[in-house]
Parts: sequence; structure tokens; C-alpha cells
Amino acid sequence: MLLTGRNKNKQDSDLVKWFVVLGLFVWCSLSQAHHQDAHSFANVHQVSTHHLRIALTVDFTRHQLSGFVEHWLQRLEPTANKLVLDTKGLRISKVEISADGEQWHPTPYLLGLANPLLGQPLNIRLQPDTLRVRVHYQTGADAVGLQWLEANQTTEKKQPFLYTQSQSIHARSWLPLQDTPAIRQTFDATIVTPPQVLAVMSADNSRTNKSSGVHQFAMPQPIPSSLIALAAGDLHFKAMSANTGVYAERSYLEKAAAEFADVNLMMATANRLYGDYPWYRYDLVVLPASYPYGGMENPRLAFVTPTIITGDKSLIGLVAHQLAHSWSGNLVNQGHWDHVWLNEGFTNYVEQRIMQEVYGAKRAALELQLYLQQLQQALETLPAADQRLLADYSHRHPDDAFNPINYVKGQLLLMAMAQHVGQAAFDRFLAGYFAHFAFKSVTTTDFVQYATDHLTGDTRLPANFFAGWLQDSGLPKGAMPASVLPLELLKQVQQQWLYGDQLLDQAVTADWTMQHWLIFLNDLPIQLSAAKLAQLDQQYHFSQSQNPELFTAFAIKAIQVNYQPIVLPLQQFLQQNGRLKFILPLYQQLKAQPQWRQWAGSLYRNNRDFYHVQARQQLDKLEL
Ligand code: BES
Ligand code: ZN
Repeated sequence: MLLTGRNKNKQDSDLVKWFVVLGLFVWCSLSQAHHQDAHSFANVHQVSTHHLRIALTVDFTRHQLSGFVEHWLQRLEPTANKLVLDTKGLRISKVEISADGEQWHPTPYLLGLANPLLGQPLNIRLQPDTLRVRVHYQTGADAVGLQWLEANQTTEKKQPFLYTQSQSIHARSWLPLQDTPAIRQTFDATIVTPPQVLAVMSADNSRTNKSSGVHQFAMPQPIPSSLIALAAGDLHFKAMSANTGVYAERSYLEKAAAEFADVNLMMATANRLYGDYPWYRYDLVVLPASYPYGGMENPRLAFVTPTIITGDKSLIGLVAHQLAHSWSGNLVNQGHWDHVWLNEGFTNYVEQRIMQEVYGAKRAALELQLYLQQLQQALETLPAADQRLLADYSHRHPDDAFNPINYVKGQLLLMAMAQHVGQAAFDRFLAGYFAHFAFKSVTTTDFVQYATDHLTGDTRLPANFFAGWLQDSGLPKGAMPASVLPLELLKQVQQQWLYGDQLLDQAVTADWTMQHWLIFLNDLPIQLSAAKLAQLDQQYHFSQSQNPELFTAFAIKAIQVNYQPIVLPLQQFLQQNGRLKFILPLYQQLKAQPQWRQWAGSLYRNNRDFYHVQARQQLDKLEL
């Protein structure tokens, strides 16, 4: 083709236009990629929910929630004509839109293809004036965010029980919403249960009504979707102070209130260190023993496992952890699942500070040591890429990000900063960070920028301080805290016992706490003889321990050395506890031992119904 000068000019300018368009496209998709949450379909950059109105009926017979959720919208891109919500297994019956919250009109909607990890996008057509969207729906069978228990599976056996677990991306299995930590919303709710069932939420719980079964809630502070929570059952309340209390089944109530009483001291400490408690009330609800986690920091109402009620406050660190989340994770939250360390690493750090102040440096050091044991194990087993604090979870379930790297390596990063800056100055710095980003979702970049801006002069961090911590696998040099004195003594005693023929000296171990014993048991070598373990059991009765941490640590060794007296208590333990922290390593250990494998398989199949859906998913993978 012959090009005239004029045409050539036109072609050149077309080419330029093309590059501009291409550039814009790449820029858009890059900035999109930067902002877009790989675990959500929601178009939050076009339209975002600022308030949810929830109206649900709890049907214990059908194991179903039904009703509607109303979205109050912010139209960020006024020309965008659709709202995309996350759903998983929901059955949508009708979608309505409104400009004023009074006149409602049906609108077309379409459920997209199901993705096994993420569920289905729900695309809803909006009109230019739409400010509210109401989705009528029912939850599906086996919703991953819900656990339904029959009355006979509860302690009191009078009423059935239901509770939710929204973190990380399970809220979409019971609420059609923008299920991404990038946005926050307030909510109000009306929950209808059968009479005599009490419903509680991560909200103001003062307008519940047990006799009518109609319960009203309001959460006037914006929170991410993963913190929306509901529990309903034969619950009773006991106050621990004017603004703290505990909900539990009758038989747990007194014990729980006694076990958790120090939460008032913890609260006073955290207030002093990190700024006034921002959520008005702090209550806890004790869930059934099949709860797969230790605790969940739902704002105003932490969910906890009954396995921490041991009578001696030895596992109270877990309450300190959940309380700590009131600042780290709830007041300021990671806005993206690749940044879980901003929630969990910070929380482990704040937990440690609370433990130091309330229970003393020695206990806090022992508990840190237990976390370090977990970290050590993770560093030995996780691939290098996942040992970075900035790991990529985009192709996996975000639940996988809750590992000792994000918890403990994250905690060590903050400890290293505190070491550098000085404890008091670092506490002030953290308090400033929480205040600065209050009620916001942040990413690691925000934190690094804040630290760079605020730690100046004497408190300036070394150049490249963050790069190594965030982007390298393993640990930076010198990051492992030096061993503390009680540990060195413990190690000595352990070595003498292991390689000598004397019994452990009960005079020496008399003042050992549960934490000492846990460190001791976790550190026993694999080649231990069954006879040694039997001797230990005769002296200290670990196979009969009512403390689930001690029992689990001992049982792991017992399985390894084929110590038969563990069989019965282990069977009972696995039938009565659903907390993954215990049962997953126990089943793993059983599976690894040929002589136990078959027994474990049939035990698991018999117990499977007792476990939570989320626990089953992990245990099924073991193929017992
Ligand atoms: N936010 C977590 C609970 C969680 C973990 C939810 C993974 C979803 C996926 C909670 O704060 C937590 O960390 N719980 C720990 C206890 C803590 C003392 C380390 C737990 O459940 O064991
Ligand atoms: Zn946590």
C-alpha cells in the first residue's frame, strides 16, 4: 500500500491514539489488579454498601435462614448500572430496588457461574437513582459459614444452637454481600427465632427478646463483612463488670464468668496502652465444643471455645488475643487477604503486651516461646514463598493465610521495631497508628508509610528495615529472641531426665505452669521410648488431663510411641472436641502411624457429623 504523507500522518496519530488507549487499558487493569480483591466478585469501586439491613428468620428444623438483606449504597461511579454481590449456596427468590427506601421495584438479576472457592457472583441491575437494593433469599444446605446443632448436641439439651463463622470469606454463605475486607459497613438486624432461644450478634445486644423470639440489633460502627456474626441458642448472660459480660449455656455460665474475670484488667491495660476501647461493650459468648476455632474477635461479642475454661485461667491468653483484636483487626483491619499479618501479627503482639502487663514478663515469655515453637515448625515445613509476610494467596482459600508466619513472624517484626524504638515510644506509636486509621481498611503499604512518616529522628528505623521482613523467607538475622532463663532451666531438667535413669524431680517441677509443661512435651524427641512416656504419665497423669492443650501435646507423643493407655481418653477427646488446633494434628499423627490408621479412620467416620463443616473440609483431605 502506498502511503501519502497525509495518510501517514493520520496513521501515526492513529498509532499514538492506540498506544494511549492501550496504555490506559493496561493502567486500568493494573490499578484494578492492585485494588481488586481476588477473593471477591464485588464491584466495590463502582458501588459500595455503607449499611446493611438484615431481616432473617432462623429455621432450626430446616437448618435454614430466610428473609432479606437490604443494601444501602454509595454510587461511586454514577454511570455503573450494576451491583455485584458475593454469594455461596444461597437461593435467591427476588431482588428489589428503591431510590428512597419506600417504593420498591423488582429488578433483573443473574447468578454467575459457581467457583468452588468463591461461590457465585450475584449481578443486579441498578437504575440511575437506585440507592437501596433488597435481596430476598434462603441459605443452602451445608452453608460453610453456619453450624446447626440439635438440642441433644448441646450441654443443656433443651434448645438447638446456631452460630456463624464469617471470617475469612464465609459470610457470603449466609448473607449476600460485598464479601471483601476492603470495605466496611454498619448494619441493623431483626432476627426471629423460636421463643426461648436467645440470639446475639456482633452488635448492640440490648434489644433481644427471648420470650417473643424477635431480636433487634444495631451496629452503628462500620465493620468488614468477616466480622458480622450471629449466635442463637439456650444462652444466658452474666455480667463481669458494667461493660463486660459472658453469654453461655447455663452449665458453663458461672465457670466462664470466673475464668474470664481478668478481662476487666486486660481491658484497662489495653486502654492505657493503645487508646480507649472503641466498641462500648465487650462480651464473650461460649460456643459448643465443636467450634472449630479457639476464638473469633467478633466486635462487641467475641466467640470462644469452651475448651479454654480450665478453672485455672491457664488459657486466658486466648481472651487477651481476641480482646487485642478490638484494636488490631477490628478498629484497623487488613483490607486484603494477602495482608493477614496486619491483623494477626499485630494482635499477637498486642496480646503479648497485655499478658506482660497483667500476668508479668515471665508468663508472657513462656507463651511467646510456645508461639516460637509453632513458628519454627512452620519455617521447617512451609515453602519459601509462603514464609514471606507478603505472600500471595490469590489462588488459594484465604483461610490458608492464618498460619504462624502471619501470626508469629508478624509479631516478631513488631517486637523488632519495639526493640529499636524503645517499648514506651513504640506503644505510643502503635496507639497513634490505631487512632490514625480508626475504622479503616489498610494494607501493608499504609503501615510502612505511616511508620516511615512517624518514626523519625531517634526512632528512625534502619534503611530497608521492612524490605527484608516483608519480602524474604525465613527470619532476618537476630530476629529470634534470646532464650529466657526459665527455659534454660527447663531444658536442663529435660535433658537430665531423657538421658539419665532418674525420675523427673517433682520438687523441681512443682512450680511448673501449664506453659512449662507444654514446652516440655512439645520438645520431646521422636525417639522417646514408650517406657519413658509411661513413666511420665504415671508421675503426672497427662493422659487424664482436662486441659486440652496438655492432653493434645501428650497424646501426639503417645501416638508416636504407641502408648496404648491413650486409646480410650483419646477416643473420648476426639468425640467431644471439634477445635482444629487439637484434632487436626491428632488425626494427622494417627494417620502417619500404620498401627493407628484404621482405628482413626473409623473413629473419624463415626464422629464426622459432630464436626463443623469447615473442620470436615480439612479433615476429609487427610483421607483417613
Ligand atoms: N481471627 C482468628 C480466628 C480465625 C482463624 C478465623 C482462621 C478464620 C480463620 C482468631 O483471632 C484467632 O487467631 N484465633 C486463634 C487463637 C489465638 C490465641 C491464636 C484460634 O482460634 O486458635
Ligand atoms: Zn487472631
